[in-house]
Amino acid sequence: MTKIAFVARGSEGEEAQWLGVLRSALPEVSLLPCRDLDEASRHEIEVAIVANPDPAELRALPRLKWIHSLWAGVERLMAELDGSVPVVRLVDPELSRSMGEAVLAWTLYLQRDMPAYADQQRRKLWTQRPYRAPSECRLAILGTGEMGQAAAARLMAAGFPVTGWNRTPKGADFPVHSGPVGLSRVLEASDIVVCLLPLTAETRGLIDAKALSQMPHGASLINFARGPIVVAADLIDALDRGHLTHAVLDVFDQEPLPEASPLWSHPRITVLPHISATTNVHTAAAIVAGNIRRFLDTGDLPKTVDQTRGY
Ligand SMILES: NC(=O)c1ccc[n+]([C@@H]2O[C@H](COP(=O)([O-])OP(=O)(O)OC[C@H]3O[C@@H](n4cnc5c(N)ncnc54)[C@H](OP(=O)(O)O)[C@@H]3O)[C@@H](O)[C@H]2O)c1
Repeated sequence: MTKIAFVARGSEGEEAQWLGVLRSALPEVSLLPCRDLDEASRHEIEVAIVANPDPAELRALPRLKWIHSLWAGVERLMAELDGSVPVVRLVDPELSRSMGEAVLAWTLYLQRDMPAYADQQRRKLWTQRPYRAPSECRLAILGTGEMGQAAAARLMAAGFPVTGWNRTPKGADFPVHSGPVGLSRVLEASDIVVCLLPLTAETRGLIDAKALSQMPHGASLINFARGPIVVAADLIDALDRGHLTHAVLDVFDQEPLPEASPLWSHPRITVLPHISATTNVHTAAAIVAGNIRRFLDTGDLPKTVDQTRGY
């Protein structure tokens, strides 16, 4: 029986759940946690399924050909492995669907002024604020990949005009710009900016004071991608000055967000604990199993993460 390694740093409960679901989805292989592999078995392993793995455990597998991540965002893995082995990331329509749903939910939260009404309730204020229809609320999606496309579809179906920004201006049923000039154009013409970019050398710190100042007065930001893409101090400054109205943040430089972080109690910031799109173990396991089965049958590797671009 082919042996596949499972390498994860998580709770015992999470590991047991993943092992159970993956073993049901791939009954024809022997899926084993790294610690259960003896020296001879380590030399047999060509594929590992990983979730936040210890790179040392992967380096102890001398014949490893590729690894399948159970996560969509792989910047930490790419940095830790430094190109030593091809990485396949999770691309799951259910994950994209759930991200599209989250982007729509938090866009409606901002469009219908929910943060302001929650504040009014705390202050016992009965004030009806002006209504802004979806058609008057311009949305920007930064990063029109798997997540961005799913979010754009949900937003457009709800009546929001959407513009995208992407590395390549690939075809979509909404306008997509690229490059620094394109980014300025998109930011200047958006009431809500949604960040769905991968974290790479190019996107780290991309949303800084300059980018935030290009957004119209009163605009809002949703960051569901990775914390370090947005410069937190610059964001706080833009909110404090009243240039921006609100920010919904699901991702942070450090997670869990430290208790001392000023983001927790900022009146113009909504903090979420990295829940905008959570992996569904059943759909993810079926996709991982399909990719591994194809490799075992044909020797074909699924699409791997580009080592140079980092996503
Ligand atoms: N908060 C959560 O729960 C959660 C869940 C899942 C994913 N995420 C985050 O979402 C990110 C995106 O996921 P995905 O599956 O949509 O990834 P993806 O399919 O690889 O899409 C990324 C998109 O960003 C574009 N891009 C990359 N670098 C760029 C740059 N420098 N300038 C402009 N555009 C750039 C890419 O353009 P090209 O197509 O031209 O290359 C691509 O369209 C993940 O990396 C992860 O960090 C968060």
